[in-house]
Amino acid sequence: MKNVLILYYSQSGQLQSVMDQIVAPLALCDSIQCDYQKIEPETPYPYPWPFYKFFNVFPEAVYLDGCPIKQLELKKEYDLIILGYTSWFLSPSIPVTGFLKSDQAKKLFKNKPVVTVIACRDMWLIAQEKMKGLLKDLDARLIDNVVLTDQGKSIYTFITTPRWMLTGKKNAFWFFPPAGVHEKEIASASRFGDRLCKALQHDEERSTLPLLSNMGAVTVNGKLIATEHIAHRSFLIWSKLIKKAGPQDSKGRNVVITIYAIFLFILILTVVPLNMLFRWLLSPVRKKSLAETIDYYEQPSGN
Ligand SMILES: Cc1cc2nc3c(=O)[nH]c(=O)nc-3n(C[C@H](O)[C@H](O)[C@H](O)COP(=O)(O)O)c2cc1C
Repeated sequence: MKNVLILYYSQSGQLQSVMDQIVAPLALCDSIQCDYQKIEPETPYPYPWPFYKFFNVFPEAVYLDGCPIKQLELKKEYDLIILGYTSWFLSPSIPVTGFLKSDQAKKLFKNKPVVTVIACRDMWLIAQEKMKGLLKDLDARLIDNVVLTDQGKSIYTFITTPRWMLTGKKNAFWFFPPAGVHEKEIASASRFGDRLCKALQHDEERSTLPLLSNMGAVTVNGKLIATEHIAHRSFLIWSKLIKKAGPQDSKGRNVVITIYAIFLFILILTVVPLNMLFRWLLSPVRKKSLAETIDYYEQPSGN
């Protein structure tokens, strides 16, 4: 009998639907016991998010401060851990970071193979780098990464995802597609569960090789790599300034957040398109190095 632990934190239920699809084939398998656990912060985060609350968590997300998490009821040793997380400000969400920094996680993850599952807008590269660091600190073994991103081009999701987070509205409007990952893509995540089921039956999780390669588990959008790096550099500076301005929800912090939100808006409308144009012009000479970078970020489960 193989024991699989499925851990996740989801606010709207989208990531939970993805996890449900992956778990369904595993739960049908007689030789696999699934333990499905939701990570819960001691103080819940709002959803939909009030504007200032949304930006108030920004520095703590970026600096991986985490938050206190309710103790989980876990009894067994696990053969495989499937960890579902969303990206918050290019970082793993605060509740997932909080759990990974807890004493409970230290025992749970030690020497265990881990499959990460991400469902986010489309900016997850830096978050996954941070996740790799957190898992390394726990002596866990990252064997696979599955990534599902919101439907529509980046230019549309720049509007549809924040609108969804701040109002709870996911519907299509004007020329914008609905927010979130496409239903079909969520449904097709069951193929990963099928593959994991077969792999567990053959003890493949004990090897060092990925179990989900060549299945379209992860596709890196080369155009977003530089954008993420530029944004993250500015996130580190602004997070420090916002933290210095005061604790969460203080007047001082909200003033700096207002300045930051204006800065971010201008940055996205100016520096980001200029950078994309610059990269596009350079792309013929940078083809090889870009392909190598994409290949790096698509590991371990790339095509
Ligand atoms: C505070 C916050 C920050 C976010 N930052 C990012 C981000 O940096 N990159 C990204 O692709 N998505 C980002 N998102 C979207 C989430 O990754 C995710 O798609 C959304 O929260 C829905 O997930 P859930 O309802 O299953 O929790 C953010 C969401 C929140 C609430």
